[in-house]
Amino acid sequence: MIITTCGNSKEIAIKLAKKLKAKYSPLTIGAFPDGDIYMKYNTNVKGKKVVIVHSFQPHSDMSLFDIIWAAETAKDLGAKKVILIAPYLSYMRQDKRFNPGEAISSRIMAKHLNSCLDKIITIDTHIHRYKSLKDIFTISAKNLTANDLIADYIKKNIRDVVIIGPDWESYQWAESIAKQIGVEATVLKKTRFSSRKVKVKMIKPIPIKGKNVVIVDDIISTGHTIAEAAKQAKKLGAKTITAIGVHGLFVEDAISKLIKSGVNKISSTNCIAHPSNKIDVTSILFDELKKEKR
Ligand code: R5P
Repeated sequence: MIITTCGNSKEIAIKLAKKLKAKYSPLTIGAFPDGDIYMKYNTNVKGKKVVIVHSFQPHSDMSLFDIIWAAETAKDLGAKKVILIAPYLSYMRQDKRFNPGEAISSRIMAKHLNSCLDKIITIDTHIHRYKSLKDIFTISAKNLTANDLIADYIKKNIRDVVIIGPDWESYQWAESIAKQIGVEATVLKKTRFSSRKVKVKMIKPIPIKGKNVVIVDDIISTGHTIAEAAKQAKKLGAKTITAIGVHGLFVEDAISKLIKSGVNKISSTNCIAHPSNKIDVTSILFDELKKEKR
């Protein structure tokens, strides 16, 4: 087995290779003077299982392109099986045509990956209108969850906690994590007006006054969703507010927006490399990938 990467998720790739006692060999990626991509494997992949460990952030467009190139090249060089580990899989939020004429990006992304990979492994990917990854992937597709790791992190670091999920879709993280810790949770009702404007409302109130509130979501992108939830929690008398994102994209001025809204601490998993990374997902990826070693 060869563990490689196009650049993102380098740290996870190195750790996985070490744990699996597999060879780590990153790809050489560059560009010709005219901008055309240059890519090269630096080890012989013939007859081997090639595992590309690469998160789709930063640079989701280039990541998709690099992954297709890497997978096609591995196959062309005689790899036995090509597996993608994408701790963060982008394009999943555009899962329908919200307005006439729009591209359904998740389907297009999956179609391209189906044609060059044998298997995809991701973590807490944004499945909302799809029932499972099978709705768009014809290859073997596994969606792991970081819930146990997040619950452990909260247990070790924060006391007297209540959990808030900022929108209906976040129940799968908020409620399951709260259950594991044995604390109360509530999920807010979110209305999205645009990619940068949301409103949230607490439908099922829980006691918040004097509590350490943890807001958990799959994606923190512009930070608007969590910021609105934090403002509510602050109004209701939260003692401290921690924001935890499985995938911390933190685009535009997300961090300062979160702080201004009353968030005291921001933590994320290392699905996307960021200074807020506090929760390491390598162990769950290792558990899944070791099946491939048998
Ligand atoms: C959407 O349904 C997701 O679960 C997140 O709530 C959303 O992507 C967060 O985006 P933002 O940080 O831009 O509000």
